Amino acid sequence: MRIGTFGAGNMAEALTAHWVRAGHEVMIGARSPEKARAAAGRVGARAGGLREAARFGEVILLALPHDAAVATVRAAGPLDGRVLVDCTNPIVPPAFTLATGHGPAAAERIAAAAPAAHVVKAFNLCHEGIWRMTPPVFDGRPLGVPVCGDDPGAVATAGRLVRDAGAVPLPGGGLARAGLLEATAAFVIGLWFAGADPAAMLPPVEIAMGGEPHVV
Ligand SMILES: NC(=O)c1ccc[n+]([C@@H]2O[C@H](COP(=O)([O-])OP(=O)(O)OC[C@H]3O[C@@H](n4cnc5c(N)ncnc54)[C@H](OP(=O)(O)O)[C@@H]3O)[C@@H](O)[C@H]2O)c1
Repeated sequence: MRIGTFGAGNMAEALTAHWVRAGHEVMIGARSPEKARAAAGRVGARAGGLREAARFGEVILLALPHDAAVATVRAAGPLDGRVLVDCTNPIVPPAFTLATGHGPAAAERIAAAAPAAHVVKAFNLCHEGIWRMTPPVFDGRPLGVPVCGDDPGAVATAGRLVRDAGAVPLPGGGLARAGLLEATAAFVIGLWFAGADPAAMLPPVEIAMGGEPHVV
């Protein structure tokens, strides 16, 4: 498929490298032509401006600071029918709270700015360094990537892109749950920064909802 990006930074580069390898046509789109060309050259994509990437992509990865995403989407021209994959994190360090507070999630604000597009929240939990792994597999288990979106086709498209990055999509529900995913990122990243392991708080799925733990 044809994939454009808004942003030519770490996430755009790390994710599109997988997608180019998987055979997709990718255009890195940025406000700075030099930065777009440099990132595109490193991953084997083409480069363009933001509006060019908007015209090019059936899918557009939003790899911008969360507070730039809405204005950029509005300025990009018509995005009708596009799948907007939103990996932004509205997180405010050092307390790792949400810039969105109790209001709509970043993904919902983007959806309101592009009502004819299909927004899917994904890829926001893990550091770009994880996305530079080929593939992101730990102890033989591919990374799980929660995906939240309302349009089944768009969710399936995002799921394919997760698989093309060597990971496994996890059904996160509709876009109304994107705020939970953004909050999860804030909480988990806060734990990582504190040197704690968030994986330690999650029991195995077999007994997570009750049942007999295996005691040795
Ligand atoms: N890095 C991670 O590990 C990670 C992991 C998960 C999610 N995320 C989220 O992913 C998003 C991108 O992160 P990143 O690490 O890729 O950031 P980054 O390396 O700083 O790249 C950000 C990109 O956004 C562009 N940009 C910034 N402000 C803009 C504006 N007002 N209008 C248009 N373009 C603008 C930058 O262009 P210029 O170079 O011209 O400024 C750059 O191309 C963020 O929302 C972040 O929270 C990041």
